[in-house]
Amino acid sequence: RPRVLSGIQPTADSFHLGNYLGAVRHWVALQDTHDAFYCVVDLHAITAGHDAKTLRQRSRTAAAQLLAVGLDPERCALFVQSQVPEHAQLAWILSCVTGFGEASRMTQFKDKSQKQGSDRASVGLFTYPILQAADILLYQADAVPVGEDQRQHLELTRDLAQRFNTSFGRTFTVPAAHIVRDTAKITDLQDPTAKMSKSSSSPAGIINLLEEPARSAKKIRSAVTDTGREIVFDAEAKPGIANLLTIYSALTGRSIDDLVAAYAGKGYGDLKKDLGEVVVEFVRPVQERTRSYLDDPAQLDKLLAQGAEKARAVAARTLATTYERVGFFPPV
Ligand code: TYM
Repeated sequence: RPRVLSGIQPTADSFHLGNYLGAVRHWVALQDTHDAFYCVVDLHAITAGHDAKTLRQRSRTAAAQLLAVGLDPERCALFVQSQVPEHAQLAWILSCVTGFGEASRMTQFKDKSQKQGSDRASVGLFTYPILQAADILLYQADAVPVGEDQRQHLELTRDLAQRFNTSFGRTFTVPAAHIVRDTAKITDLQDPTAKMSKSSSSPAGIINLLEEPARSAKKIRSAVTDTGREIVFDAEAKPGIANLLTIYSALTGRSIDDLVAAYAGKGYGDLKKDLGEVVVEFVRPVQERTRSYLDDPAQLDKLLAQGAEKARAVAARTLATTYERVGFFPPV
C-alpha cells in the first residue's frame, strides 16, 4: 500500500475548522487506502517560544481530537513526534544538504520572523521546514495531505529528497503534496481574503473545534459577508459567501451547486443561521469524544507510546540506510 504522513502543531488549545477541513478530514479518509502515519509535531511547536506544561497538555488534546474526528489507532500510527528521536537525527543530516539561501526563501519563515524580529526569532524557526522534510522522508511517504499553506514546504522536501538521492544514492521516496483544492484554504470569518489561522486570526475569525458550540454558531452568524444579497459561489467577488458555502458543503457532503439552488431567493442571514446549526451538530459529538479520551490520560499516553513504537520501526530503518549512505557508523 502507498504511504502517507502528515502532522499538526499543538500550538493552540484546539484545532480550528481550517485544520480539519483542509487536512485532518483527509487523514481520516486516507487510513482506508494507505499505510498512514500521523504525528503531533511538538518539536515544531517549540520554535516560537512556549510553556512546558501547556505544551504537554496541548499535545494530548491534539491527539484526543484526532481520535475524536476518526483516526483509528488500529489503522494508522498516531504518535507524538518527540517520542521518535529519528526525526531530529535525520533533520540534522538534511540541514547539511539544504542551502542557506534556499531556507531563507521560505515564506512562512519570512512572515513569522518578521513579526518576531530577527533577534527574537529562533534558529529553530529557520530550520523548521527541514525538520518537516525529515518527518516526511523518514516514512518514505508517497503523499502528504496538507492545506495550501504547506505547498512550499512540500516543494522543499521534494528538492531535498531528490538532491540527497542524487548525491548519495537512492534513499528517499520523493513525496507528492495531497492538497484537495476545494477546502485547501478555509478563510478567516472576519477577513475572508486571509486564511483562518491559529496564530493570526482574531477570535471572531476562527472556529475552534473545542469552543462552546453556541459561540461558533454566533461567529458564523457574524461572519463578514459581501455586498449584494444573492447567494452565489464566486471566490473573487464574494469571498465571504464562498467560504461559508465551502464549509457548508464540506461538513454536509452537499455539493455547492445543490446549496446554491437550495438558497435561491433566500438571504445571507438564512445561510448563516443554517450553517451555524450544521457546525454545532458537527462539533458536539467531536467534543464529547475528545473529552472522553482526555478523561483517561494514562490510557491516551499508552496509545501514543504504541503509535510511536509502530512509527519507530519504520523511521529507524530509513535512518539506518541514511547513516550508511552518508558514511556514519550504524545507529546502535
Ligand atoms: P499546522 O499545524 O499549521 O496545520 C495543520 C494542517 O492544517 C492545514 N491548515 C489549513 N487548511 C485549510 N485552511 C486553513 N485555513 C488551514 N490552516 C491550516 C495546514 O496546511 C496543515 O496541513 N508545518 C505543518 C506541520 C507539519 C507537517 C509535517 C505537515 C510538521 N511536519 C509533515 C505535513 C507533514 C503546520 O504547521 O501545520
